[in-house]
Amino acid sequence: MQKKITRAVVPAAGFGTRLLPATKAQPKEMLVVVDKPVIQYVVEEAVQSGITDVLIIISDGKEVLREHFRPDEELERVLEAKGKQGELEVIQSLNHLANIHIEYQHEQKGLGDAIFCAEKFAAGEPFVVLLGDTIIEAERPLTLQLTEVFAEKKNPVIALQQVPLSIAHRYGVFIGEEVQPRLYCGTAMVEKPPKDNIPSNLVFAGRYVLTPDIFDALRNTVAGVNNEIQLTDAIRLLMNKRHVYGWLFDGERHDVGNKLDFIKTNVLLGLKRPDIGKQLRDWLNETKF
Ligand code: UTP
Repeated sequence: MQKKITRAVVPAAGFGTRLLPATKAQPKEMLVVVDKPVIQYVVEEAVQSGITDVLIIISDGKEVLREHFRPDEELERVLEAKGKQGELEVIQSLNHLANIHIEYQHEQKGLGDAIFCAEKFAAGEPFVVLLGDTIIEAERPLTLQLTEVFAEKKNPVIALQQVPLSIAHRYGVFIGEEVQPRLYCGTAMVEKPPKDNIPSNLVFAGRYVLTPDIFDALRNTVAGVNNEIQLTDAIRLLMNKRHVYGWLFDGERHDVGNKLDFIKTNVLLGLKRPDIGKQLRDWLNETKF
């Protein structure tokens, strides 16, 4: 029987330049959405999808991403002494969420290069990738949906969303043939195509299932758009020898790596919280902008 995928890689070593100065001394993956850092939403999605081990790729100085998941005995003692049972449970639940591993990407040479740092961790097995700055809302965890497709197809699977053609140039773009409802078999893909030559409105949504041959493909991938080693270029190489699937998921993607979407994500997720949702909605309705 095929083994279940239990390892996830979360690249989080980027500079986050679009959110400077907020990201000068703080990783963007630690920015707060309502009351949790983005990385926690990402790790929670992985865990809800059967992942037990999460490798976070970081750069020097971003160790706080690991600290967030480590026990803090002093804090736990204080919360206990103050009778703050709810907060204590919230903090303690992080201690055993997943086995968190760290690997350093010393030079920020692109997403593909970040994934290359996970070769040892992957140990020759398929694994999932969840971008550390992207929160996905879906009825069933998106990573779980992808691993289910992988169990059937035994080939890489990329989460896709449909966007207006006018903004597709910001993303990795997927071209493929629909072989089952929502499932596409890739024929081509291109990272951030020029605005006047957008081949499809299906774009990468920040979640992938990859097979270990991606590392050989990455070894053979030269710097592409923005002079970065692009994961899309490496996956395109894989397509020369195996099928690569795209899964058009039903749900919302929140990319918190830019100012506007960061603020929108806070509002949208805040509106769904039982403790503040109603007040936030009333305030939005009453306020004259
Ligand atoms: P982005 O391209 O959105 O992140 O990569 P960035 O480079 O930090 O952002 P800007 O453009 O400067 O604002 C998506 C994810 O991949 C990680 C990022 O940390 C982010 O979570 N990444 C990107 C790496 O780990 N290493 C890299 O070299 C580049």
